[in-house]
Amino acid sequence: MKLLITGIAGFIGHAVAKRLAGQGHEIVGIDNLNDYYDVALKQARLDDLADCQDVRFERLDLAERAAVAGLFEAEGFDRVIHLAAQAGVRYSLENPHAYADANLVGHLNVLEGCRHGRVGHLVYASSSSVYGANDKVPFATSDNVDHPISLYAATKKANELMAHTYSHLYDLPTTGLRFFTVYGPWGRPDMAMFKFTRAVLAGEPLPVFNHGDMSRDFTYIDDIVEGIVRILDVVPERRPRAAVEAGSPDTGTAPYALYNIGHGSPVALMDFVRAVENATGREAVCDFQPMQPGDVPRTWADTEALFEATGYRPRIGVEEGVHRFVEWYREYYKV
Ligand SMILES: NC(=O)c1ccc[n+]([C@@H]2O[C@H](COP(=O)([O-])OP(=O)(O)OC[C@H]3O[C@@H](n4cnc5c(N)ncnc54)[C@H](O)[C@@H]3O)[C@@H](O)[C@H]2O)c1
Repeated sequence: MKLLITGIAGFIGHAVAKRLAGQGHEIVGIDNLNDYYDVALKQARLDDLADCQDVRFERLDLAERAAVAGLFEAEGFDRVIHLAAQAGVRYSLENPHAYADANLVGHLNVLEGCRHGRVGHLVYASSSSVYGANDKVPFATSDNVDHPISLYAATKKANELMAHTYSHLYDLPTTGLRFFTVYGPWGRPDMAMFKFTRAVLAGEPLPVFNHGDMSRDFTYIDDIVEGIVRILDVVPERRPRAAVEAGSPDTGTAPYALYNIGHGSPVALMDFVRAVENATGREAVCDFQPMQPGDVPRTWADTEALFEATGYRPRIGVEEGVHRFVEWYREYYKV
């Protein structure tokens, strides 16, 4: 198959490309290599893919309508894995327009490209942040998600709504994946795993928000990648009318699907800090701080639907995953 991976220089995009390389596909990866975080890390991820003969990189901004339309017309993709986005909850308070450009305009341009290019399946990234501060756990895709508490979350929810419209109107099969706190080697410098490790190894205090009273459904990168690759072959089909009437809010007649993709077990933030201490052999100096605006106290994924669709359950627990990350970090940064 001919595949497009957007955000290929990103944390998840790089890992997905690496996993799919050498399997007989022709892969085109695009990324605008923006400087939201260290561009050298994005470049290093691309360098890591340089040996993959079947992966071709093009620098392209998804917000550029004509360029995206031209790419889809020239290439003729069978399937699209759309991971490029402006990520990060806290940054969306300072730079809202970056989210409109990448996540709304960019997502629309991808949908248009898929529509006109008759793409067979679009798999795109949503986020656990759409659940906002919901009390009911674990979070299920049938839960109400009408109360996002950050613009980032609002754009991710909008992505799902836009995808549904295209599935309904143009018979474009789409699958949204709500990712839950992904961590692991080649991870993102703006996320806790990275910040904690950097601080602990440097002997600096690490900021712990909500005084440590938070929990996250931390999901190891390999488990996320396996879920994405498997779901790529589970192409949603149009359903009979009856399915809508009997179903929960995440069902409809359109060839549209939506899944949580997480480990399925919440980890208390302080246990995560302890795992970093164990893996580094150093003691953490915690700088306890109040809750950050836009942040949510906990996440926990109900992953049954994804298991039913793919037969896969995440395998890597937090001790093992943190250990693997710290090993990569020390080797990459030579610390
Ligand atoms: N990592 C997580 O824990 C997590 C959790 C929930 C959702 N997600 C979502 O998963 C996806 C991948 O996340 P990630 O952690 O790999 O993030 P990332 O920032 O490492 O990767 C995103 C990539 O997209 C690129 N990009 C951004 N805007 C672009 C544009 N307009 N045109 C082209 N490229 C652009 C960036 O340069 C970056 O390399 C994102 O959609 C993110 O919102 C991630």
